[in-house]
Amino acid sequence: MDLNPQSAIRNPRLEHVTVLLSEAVDLLAPRSGGVYLDGTLGGGGHAREILLRSSPDGVVVGLDQDADAVERCRESMAEFGSRAIIRQANFRNLRAVLSGLGIPAVDGVLLDVGVSWFHLRDAERGFSFLTDGPLDMRMDAAGTVTAAELVNTLPRQELAHILREYGEEHRANAIAKAIERARSQGEITRTGQLAEIVSRVFPPYPPRRVHPATLTFQALRIAVNDELGALREGLEGALAVLKPGGRCAVISFHSLEDRIVKQFFVEHAKGCVCPPKLPVCNCGRTPELAVLTKKPVMASEEEVAANPASRSAKLRAAEKR
Ligand SMILES: C[S@@+](CC[C@H](N)C(=O)[O-])C[C@H]1O[C@@H](n2cnc3c(N)ncnc32)[C@H](O)[C@@H]1O
Repeated sequence: MDLNPQSAIRNPRLEHVTVLLSEAVDLLAPRSGGVYLDGTLGGGGHAREILLRSSPDGVVVGLDQDADAVERCRESMAEFGSRAIIRQANFRNLRAVLSGLGIPAVDGVLLDVGVSWFHLRDAERGFSFLTDGPLDMRMDAAGTVTAAELVNTLPRQELAHILREYGEEHRANAIAKAIERARSQGEITRTGQLAEIVSRVFPPYPPRRVHPATLTFQALRIAVNDELGALREGLEGALAVLKPGGRCAVISFHSLEDRIVKQFFVEHAKGCVCPPKLPVCNCGRTPELAVLTKKPVMASEEEVAANPASRSAKLRAAEKR
């Protein structure tokens, strides 16, 4: 979830709220006896709702790459007993996890991608530019690359490329140059340091609505966690494990992710791709998916008012043929 860290940290009343809860679970249409995979447990809101709606015997296999999220959900979902199977894993490996559990296919897959409020709230995880902490940004603490490593070791052009591609940051070159200059004086190890370096690239007037380091932090986070690569592999995995009639629902929070989801669904919903002039089909291709959401489902005005972080959420779903 791309919560705005400014509101997540400044407003102490804020707490983790599941986004598009009923919309996403409605699209999955859980039923008793079904088996569902939630690849992004986070605070467990969607998984719990799927368990409730698939009672008395539906099963949820819940994954999160973050050990804290797994711990939290093991506790909060203990009441569901063996109906909630919780594992620490990256959803890009969902096929391997299911096969290890002896589950060949599932009735639904949910992915609600990005970071959670829990990540942004904890300065020690290094996701926030508003509270100083180590420049880390790994969702999986066993991950090999931290944001500090990227910032201190990547050639300037590569750094600029990451900022442009994953942050859509217009000042990518200037920021990369400023980082290169700063790190020649000493390592950049703290979120506060990086936020300061980036802020100095922007003119102070007119004041900006969002913090100048927002897109830089987003870009580094995506790179550290290979979020787009994981999403592509997660979608392939979902398609492979869904039963016919099974559904996949994905909530994303920025255009890069939404584009991947949209293109994946459209591509796999295509039938014959032979040139129209051919009298008979020789590609043999049949649609694997039916798209259920022609346009992405967005949060209602009420939801956005209650939880501003839901403003950028886009939900898409498809059904396996
Ligand atoms: C937006 S939160 C999910 C919120 C959740 N749907 C709920 O109802 O509370 C995203 C969660 O997905 C996890 N995550 C992100 N990418 C992941 C991946 N590739 N594999 C597994 N977990 C991932 C994050 O650690 C985070 O806890």
